[in-house]
Amino acid sequence: MEARRNVELKARDPDPDTTLRAALAHGADDHGVLQQRDVYFAAPNGRLKLRVQDDGAQLIGYRRADAAEARLSAYHLADVPDPHGTIAALDAALGTTVEVVKRRHLLLWRDVRIHLDDVDGLGRWVELEAVAPPSSDLADEHAKVAELRSVLGIDDDRIVAAGYAAMLLEAGAATERLVALARQAMGRAHAPYSRFHVGAALRDEAGGVHAGCNVENAAYPQGQCAEASAIGALVTGGGRRIAEIAVMADTELVTPCGGCRQRLSELAGPEVRVHLCGPEGIRRTLTLGDLLPYAFDAAAL
Ligand code: THU
Repeated sequence: MEARRNVELKARDPDPDTTLRAALAHGADDHGVLQQRDVYFAAPNGRLKLRVQDDGAQLIGYRRADAAEARLSAYHLADVPDPHGTIAALDAALGTTVEVVKRRHLLLWRDVRIHLDDVDGLGRWVELEAVAPPSSDLADEHAKVAELRSVLGIDDDRIVAAGYAAMLLEAGAATERLVALARQAMGRAHAPYSRFHVGAALRDEAGGVHAGCNVENAAYPQGQCAEASAIGALVTGGGRRIAEIAVMADTELVTPCGGCRQRLSELAGPEVRVHLCGPEGIRRTLTLGDLLPYAFDAAAL
């Protein structure tokens, strides 16, 4: 069977409500919200995922270039009556690389699928997929994607080349680097009085990473927490905002002290993830908002 083809585009969406309104105003039909779980396998050629959604499961094999523009995807779709068994079989043979869980608000405009996606761990995105009939030279599909792009205000700098799976794998690798940095910092703690060694690592808004350890003092109140040291390193290194936090100590579950939650909230929003780590790695992930609800901030001044 010949592959089906789409011309597609993926972009960040800082304002999904406005995107939804603009699409509906342009005549798109609302097909509601789908909950989707995509399991990706390590395919030797192309890409392979099994999609489980409310109304059934499908195996999707496809090839697509990674390019930050409208690009062609050629794919095969097969209904899967036994998703759990199929996932187990593919996992045993190929290995699973990553799972992508999302809520997808589906709209349709002249054979273009508009996806307003809320992806676990990645946030909000808009996708355009112009489905091409077999005979098409794709000119019409590119024109429809271009028209919707301008209607929805999708600027070049919001368009991304990678798929959700690759983005999640990369985010996972970045988190692992942050945890490794917290581990190294913990090893350098100056804590001769408490003997409680703490490391903290912060990722800034540009992807730079910064670490700190606790530095105690014979005059006890002069000691400094690891988080405070790391914040100093971040600001000194040119960082302005905190995008991700890892804290590590060799105890059941280390959490930043109350004072450090306040310090962190100066530069981090409530959605920022805080990884609470033991020496072997992450034990629990919370958000700063979980740790410091009703934070006092500059807006109150
Ligand atoms: N400490 C930190 O560095 N970060 C935390 O989140 C909790 C406590 C340090 C302060 C002190 O040097 C030692 O741990 C014992 O309280």
